[in-house]
Amino acid sequence: MHLKSIKKAVIPAAGYGTRFLPITKVVPKELLPIGNKPAIHYVVEEAVRSGVEEIILVCHPSKNGIIDYFKRDKDLQIFLERKGKKEEMAVIESIESMANFRVVYQKEPLGLGHAVWCARKEIGDEPFLVILPDVLIADEIPASQYLIDSCQNGDEWGMLVERVTPSEVSSYGIARVDRMKEKVYRLTGAVEKPKLSQAPSDLGILGRYLLPPEILRILERVKAGALGEIQLTDAIDQLARERPGSAVMSRGEIFDIGTPEGLKEAYQYFEEAVGRISRTVQEGQMKVLRRR
Ligand code: G1P
Repeated sequence: MHLKSIKKAVIPAAGYGTRFLPITKVVPKELLPIGNKPAIHYVVEEAVRSGVEEIILVCHPSKNGIIDYFKRDKDLQIFLERKGKKEEMAVIESIESMANFRVVYQKEPLGLGHAVWCARKEIGDEPFLVILPDVLIADEIPASQYLIDSCQNGDEWGMLVERVTPSEVSSYGIARVDRMKEKVYRLTGAVEKPKLSQAPSDLGILGRYLLPPEILRILERVKAGALGEIQLTDAIDQLARERPGSAVMSRGEIFDIGTPEGLKEAYQYFEEAVGRISRTVQEGQMKVLRRR
């Protein structure tokens, strides 16, 4: 299959959001606002702008708000229509029609690898993207599209990486790489949250993966690793040893919105950069943001 046609993206969104407690007792962290849109909207938009047609949301059964956000709300539509609120109606309708949304449940927080494995039936036998909603990347080229295009010249699977500082190494999956060609390294392995002394490089995995379906067969056998969880990085390590992939240097403005500070920065960026951002986030939606 030609890599241009990556049609499915998995978005893991089943975590408890402990860094944002107490708000995350009732509001999933993926629904915390950036402007007047929830954070997860931005990564769905990125996927859609990268050609994805089917979004597989991996949710916890208690986090139905995420599903509701992407679902049709007939009562609201009827209400807006009666009031003649055409612009608002268009915004609401554009959300549900962005993609086909599928939902799978991860009932226990057993790790990112387990979350992806929970989506195996929906993924089927084709390459797919994994997009972590904790990482927002603002760029003219949507980050997932950039990853797809960069892998296309070589190994047909891979992930985005960024340089991390020594103190950050143990919070990331770290790539093992050898040669490099135009910002793309050959990926030969990966280690999840290593000690600095055991890190194979200073390239941290950045929440965007293009994976072949074989990864699902590897995930089925992978044992619990770092933090006692089934780690996607461990499956990637096995795959890369058999068939090297690409570690693609990221570009654009990166926000780790898995922390309150990062979320605040993203909010400020997306609010202040309205003029500049019209190239990176759909203009229509930014207009709505500007009005508030
Ligand atoms: C996850 C991945 C890790 C990656 C990080 C940032 O870790 O397991 O490999 O480097 O996201 O994308 P988490 O931040 O969920 O602990």
